[in-house]
Amino acid sequence: MAVRPIIEPFRIKSVEPIRETTRAQRQELIEKAGYNLFLVASEAILIDLLTDSGTSAMSTEQWAAMMRGDESYAGSPSFARFRDSVQAIMGFQHVIPTHQGRAAERILFNVMCKKGDIVPNNTHFDTTRANCEFVGAIALDLPIPEAKEPALLHPFKGNMDTAQLSALIEKEGAQRIPLVMLTVTNNSGGGQPVSMANIREVKGICHKHGIPLYIDACRFAENAYFIKLREAGYAEKTPREIAREIFSYADGCTMSAKKDGLANIGGFLCTNNDILAQQERDLLILTEGFPTYGGLAGRDLEAIAVGLNEALAEDYLHYRIASTAFLGNHIAKEGVPIVQPPGGHAIYIDARAFLPHVPVSQFPGVALAVELYLEGGIRSVEIGSLMFGDNARMDLVRLAIPRRVYTQSHVEYVVEIILDVWRRREKIHGYELVHQAPFLRHFTARLKPLAV
Ligand SMILES: Cc1ncc(COP(=O)(O)O)c(C=O)c1O
Repeated sequence: MAVRPIIEPFRIKSVEPIRETTRAQRQELIEKAGYNLFLVASEAILIDLLTDSGTSAMSTEQWAAMMRGDESYAGSPSFARFRDSVQAIMGFQHVIPTHQGRAAERILFNVMCKKGDIVPNNTHFDTTRANCEFVGAIALDLPIPEAKEPALLHPFKGNMDTAQLSALIEKEGAQRIPLVMLTVTNNSGGGQPVSMANIREVKGICHKHGIPLYIDACRFAENAYFIKLREAGYAEKTPREIAREIFSYADGCTMSAKKDGLANIGGFLCTNNDILAQQERDLLILTEGFPTYGGLAGRDLEAIAVGLNEALAEDYLHYRIASTAFLGNHIAKEGVPIVQPPGGHAIYIDARAFLPHVPVSQFPGVALAVELYLEGGIRSVEIGSLMFGDNARMDLVRLAIPRRVYTQSHVEYVVEIILDVWRRREKIHGYELVHQAPFLRHFTARLKPLAV
């Protein structure tokens, strides 16, 4: 019997046109943008895979809930619905709304860390690292060794190296480590999941030394679904039950609702510690707003309250993970080197292996990203030498999939464009920098192609 295609578990009620451009137009646009896709207007992009953050399509239920949004400054019922929804899934005592994930991080590190402290994480996301370092603490990544091998298959490549965590605590002492974090799924490590066994083990180590464990929960639903698919003993559990278990091991979390909150803006910070919660709310008032809105409109709180539940729906997660894997597996089958196995929210192409003739100094990730745009109007993002300078361990091109936005035919189109570029890869040349800002240069850098 033929395998039935995976279908989107929704139908489309409102459409947003996307615009085709000609290759000549794209050539002109990218040249004007200094070969930097951040500087191309989104109207000139056909399929935008720059990020999965804040780019989700909302459901009819979310739009309906937004109409219920109560914009009272204090004590809004929208906050109560938001808090109840977070608590029903995550179980934390205190829920503090913020305008997005990084605001929750800023408050958390300000309250919990001081200069010289160490915060271990499987891999800090860049805003997490920046906020941790901003208060003078050291953001330490402790991924398992397998995470450093792009082509290696491992079901839970997002796991933390627990032997290294124990050794670190023995060496530095628990008093220097105010919290341990686990990022689920591990975005910077390729959208790879963390196993329940690993979460439990990390919790055990933290508990032994009296250190709180916090979850960076941005993609908690995708992580829960990977546990269901890949970890023994979880096949019969619902993603919601699995999520509950994940959070039961934690003392708190940070969250960007722009991912698995299926909202276009928003975030929150949770804790079970009454004293910390008070300090966090005090800081919140200073920069975000009153604790019942935290920088968000009442309608945003409503959208998140509904979105968190929709992100846990099994048919949605099945389609989401299968659709990302479809993209990764189809290009990998033809030889395109990707970070294996396909992650939850994105596919990462290994640009150094894709373009071995382009030296790292000539930005192979940029070269590939520009080519995907020229060939088919696809916007991806370089995560490599342009973004991290000499600290880049790899040159990757990330294709992040917005939630519920593109259909299977869009994904098939992306596969074909990547394969067309793959077939003529020898002809692709490198780039040189002509302008860079003193920090976060990838956003505004301008480059020019090197003559072949
Ligand atoms: C793992 C992780 N943590 C934190 C953040 C920061 O969230 P926000 O962009 O809402 O500030 C992101 C955003 O991409 C992320 O992927």
